[in-house]
Amino acid sequence: MAGSEKKLTAKLVLPDSKEVQLPVTVGTEDEHAIDIRSLRQETGYITLDTGYMNTGSTTSAITYLDGEQGILRYRGYPIEELAEKSNFVETAYLLINGQLPTVAEREVFGRMLTRHSLIHEDMHQFFAGYPPTSHPMAVLSAMVTSLSAYYPDSLDRNSSMDLHITRLLSKVRTIAAFAYKKSIGQPLIYPKNSLNYCGNFLHMMFAVPSEDYEISPILEKAVNQLLILHADHEQNCSTSTVRMVGSSGANLYASIAAGILALWGPLHGGANQAVIEMLEEIKSSGTDYKKFLDDVKNKRDNRRLMGFGHRVYKNFDPRAKILKKMCDEVLNHLGVKDPLLDIAKSMEEVALKDDYFVSKKLYPNVDFYSGIIYRALGIPTNMFTVMFALGRLPGWIAHWKEMVDDKDTKIGRPRQIYTGERVRKYVPIDQR
Ligand code: ACO
Repeated sequence: MAGSEKKLTAKLVLPDSKEVQLPVTVGTEDEHAIDIRSLRQETGYITLDTGYMNTGSTTSAITYLDGEQGILRYRGYPIEELAEKSNFVETAYLLINGQLPTVAEREVFGRMLTRHSLIHEDMHQFFAGYPPTSHPMAVLSAMVTSLSAYYPDSLDRNSSMDLHITRLLSKVRTIAAFAYKKSIGQPLIYPKNSLNYCGNFLHMMFAVPSEDYEISPILEKAVNQLLILHADHEQNCSTSTVRMVGSSGANLYASIAAGILALWGPLHGGANQAVIEMLEEIKSSGTDYKKFLDDVKNKRDNRRLMGFGHRVYKNFDPRAKILKKMCDEVLNHLGVKDPLLDIAKSMEEVALKDDYFVSKKLYPNVDFYSGIIYRALGIPTNMFTVMFALGRLPGWIAHWKEMVDDKDTKIGRPRQIYTGERVRKYVPIDQR
């Protein structure tokens, strides 16, 4: 690299010895990127980066994370501090608007979220149309897409986006709870305006019309913390999907629905469900977890230790650290003794000393302990990824908004290197 601090450039020498100077962009935390936007035009070359391991798709002022140091900050605030002192609604406001709300702003935001919690009565029929075995993520994504049909002005990005954003934050919570109620055959429980965001969610999930339901402050705090820890994680798979879909001009609801679907995969948000299924399999088969770890190391049937490893964190995931502590606290408080927690802890202990995991820098990620907490809270396994989606929603919205507001945004359209047949002549079917 050469040049003054302000105008760094990188020199690239191509196979024909042609040299190009490429500008270097430096972020607030001294992250460096070679800006290749002019590369193809100047040289005919593109870059190839499967899985985007080295590609920055955008600049962003929302979340900073340093995978080597285990740092995660939303809008500059450390995740540890937010998880301890903030609540989910305030953190959502922070992510979307860039700063913590004042008392008045917080009140208006809270009131808006309360006012928009109902979904159109006609949408209730949609829930009835799904088989009881439906995965709640399938229902959630379809319902979020359907919201754009009920709010057609969302197709115009000049319409009031603040309103759509609050609608979405409030209604996704209602839809998530309704999807659960439908899956267990219980009547849908309407939101209650006297309750706050997380309390209202617990009420819609666990109340039944025939009984009073008291919201446990411990449960409410745990849900707040879990949602905060999931609220954003810069350009992960689902967030990049939201940005990509949104870059075509697609509306907010459609873009978020796409993010929900990307999250569903077991290598991403679906891992929290996969962790519990893995632990249950070990417990019910009666096999030693060490045998399972051996299978993982031998890549038998492409097994992975679910809840371990991360594309970015190569030292520790700060969210997993908070969750491990929280897991003990919540289970102790509720008096829950979960044998899966014992298996998880033993596996973690062994894996962290095992050369396979150490050499590949594989550590517990956010999903390793979150499922055990959800279980203790009474949330069923197939709802875990829905909980993740609810938490990630403000992050997706913040990124969608940042992308829309950025004058440099272009439709996301990567290139490729073609490896197929060269041009050939069409052969009529009777001659093949
Ligand atoms: N168990 C066993 N081996 C693993 C694991 C794991 N959990 N994760 C990675 N590895 C191994 C791979 O087999 C590979 O080994 P190799 O070099 O011998 O081929 C090496 O570590 C690198 O793995 P990649 O898949 O190339 O790493 P990548 O950065 O692409 O993947 C991912 C990251 C998808 C998270 C991966 O670690 C994984 O599959 N983890 C399990 C699923 C999971 O917990 N996902 C949740 C992630 S957090 C989130 O999205 C919210």
